[in-house]
Amino acid sequence: MTAGAVLLLAALALGPATVAGAPKEDFRVPPPPLTEGIFPCSECHASMEVDRRRRDLTDMHDDIVLKHDEEHRWCLDCHAPDDRDRLRLAGGQLIGFSESYLLCGQCHGDKLRDWKVGVHGKRTGSWNGPKQYLLCAHCHDPHAPRFKPMKPEPPPVRPGQAVRPGEADHE
Ligand code: HEC
Ligand code: HEC
Ligand code: HEC
Ligand code: HEC
Repeated sequence: MTAGAVLLLAALALGPATVAGAPKEDFRVPPPPLTEGIFPCSECHASMEVDRRRRDLTDMHDDIVLKHDEEHRWCLDCHAPDDRDRLRLAGGQLIGFSESYLLCGQCHGDKLRDWKVGVHGKRTGSWNGPKQYLLCAHCHDPHAPRFKPMKPEPPPVRPGQAVRPGEADHE
């Protein structure tokens, strides 16, 4: 085997880190906004049969109703059937939940480009120092992105509630 072939194999072994041959770019993100206790998914799924039927879920996840290109899509297009702890790209590569922007970017490439340069979404940090990005999923519900674009703000303060002196009675 040539040194070149060894290098190629080593690069392939990196797997999900290299998407479509591109070098890995590092985006520091906070933990994915998963519901507490739901992860690892494999805690339940490792011992379950994969059920590929498109259906209303009743025994679990009944809060998830797909409203995201749902005529063309089903759960297992994004969630790896045999490794429920990971997401699945169109080409079959598996990625972690902290890399979900790669999945979104396969169909929303313009948004992913804008996100990387800090035009879309939210990026903090100095221009030449470490930057932190919010995942697409921090703002968009992957299952119904149109209807819940943002986490709701806390409710407005009602008159008479925690108002500073002098600010009441302006209704
Ligand atoms: C377009 C891709 C996509 C499709 C289709 C999809 N999901 Fe997801 N799902 C995601 C992503 C991305 C996350 C991670 C969100 C996060 O980081 O919190 C997720 C999170 C989840 C979670 C964790 C939810 C929680 O409360 O934290 C469950 C359970 C889940 N999906 C089940 C499903 C089921 C069941 C379906 C089909 C009815 C489905 N998904 C369809 C992309 C998808
Ligand atoms: C407490 C157990 C439990 C956990 C944890 C769990 N699931 Fe499930 N999941 C189920 C059950 C039960 C069903 C079948 C529901 C039905 O058929 O009504 C299911 C169904 C699904 C389906 C539909 C496809 C299939 O194989 O039936 C997807 C996709 C899915 N889960 C994704 C996830 C993801 C992603 C996570 C982690 C973020 C997760 N689940 C965590 C119990 C669980
Ligand atoms: C396989 C392709 C595909 C993937 C993967 C995908 N989307 Fe979409 N998305 C679509 C299509 C097609 C639409 C338009 C139809 C619809 O809104 O249901 C859409 C609609 C949207 C919208 C609503 C746009 C509007 O006009 O208001 C948002 C936001 C969105 N997606 C975000 C995401 C995020 C975040 C992810 C990753 C978790 C993602 N998408 C993954 C195909 C995809
Ligand atoms: C900080 C929150 C935030 C993050 C992070 C974020 N978005 Fe958005 N996104 C928004 C808001 C708010 C809108 C609606 C206003 C707008 O169009 O800019 C939106 C709109 C969209 C739309 C519909 C826009 C259109 O042209 O109609 C898509 C698709 C989308 N986002 C995809 C993504 C993807 C993919 C990512 C990750 C690569 C992402 N977003 C990250 C907040 C966010």
